[in-house]
Amino acid sequence: MKVIKKIDEMRSAVSDIKSRGMSIGFVPTMGYLHEGHLSLVRESLRKADVTVVSIFVNPAQFGPREDFKEYPRDLNRDSEVLEREGVDYLFVPESDEIYPQGHKAFVEVYDLQDKLCGRSRPGHFRGVCTIALKLFNIINPDISFFGQKDAQQVIILKRMVKELHLEVIIEVLPIIREEDGLALSSRNKYLTQEERKAALVLSKSLKVAQSMMEKGQRDSAAIIKEMKEIIGREPLAKIDYVEIVDIDKLDPVSRIEKKALVALAIFIGKIRLIDNTILLF
Ligand code: PAF
Repeated sequence: MKVIKKIDEMRSAVSDIKSRGMSIGFVPTMGYLHEGHLSLVRESLRKADVTVVSIFVNPAQFGPREDFKEYPRDLNRDSEVLEREGVDYLFVPESDEIYPQGHKAFVEVYDLQDKLCGRSRPGHFRGVCTIALKLFNIINPDISFFGQKDAQQVIILKRMVKELHLEVIIEVLPIIREEDGLALSSRNKYLTQEERKAALVLSKSLKVAQSMMEKGQRDSAAIIKEMKEIIGREPLAKIDYVEIVDIDKLDPVSRIEKKALVALAIFIGKIRLIDNTILLF
């Protein structure tokens, strides 16, 4: 595996790959890799000729009071893991080169960026879109892989790709969970043992939503009420939001009549966790 830090060097590797007619699969990450990331890496290795993974903890997607500084980092372990998987290139750009002094260009997907997580994390999706576009421009991937765990992120990025006429295909892979249901996240590392147990309210309440739906419940308010009750019984959990929305506009739906997204963000102690499920018919 070749580790590249400089944009120019990455670009020349990419033009070499393209000149040989090979496809590029790309997995953007912020590092501290877990099985969720590795499921994306493995799919890329299966589908593309060359796989590029990036690790960059993107300051632009963290708010001033968020955990940018404390975000877990372990580049040595991550590179070992990626090397073992058979990744071809690891791109680890430096912040100064991605956001040089006086940087002014940002990308926004209006409205969608303000819903769900956007309400409590203003500027977050602007940061995500900006880094994603930069990385797409540098790496020029044929396919880029993302996890369904960040449901709003993938909806927004797909919209950006479509409306800005990018050629990359966005492929979304299912949420990877621990055996007890907890969705994998780099932030799970912060949870104490007690909080780790409390964090199960996210997946538990989603399961209940799914089963109410399967039994014929179509009233969003009834489902959300039940979910909030489950979460409310856990003293360490504080609700940021629990919503049932349509998957195009992310607007709340009152009756579930087609595919809908149940999404939630819950503080477990100080740690904000997200999870979601798609309600299918
Ligand atoms: O999902 C993530 O880890 C990040 O939001 C991403 C897509 C790598 C952009 O920094």
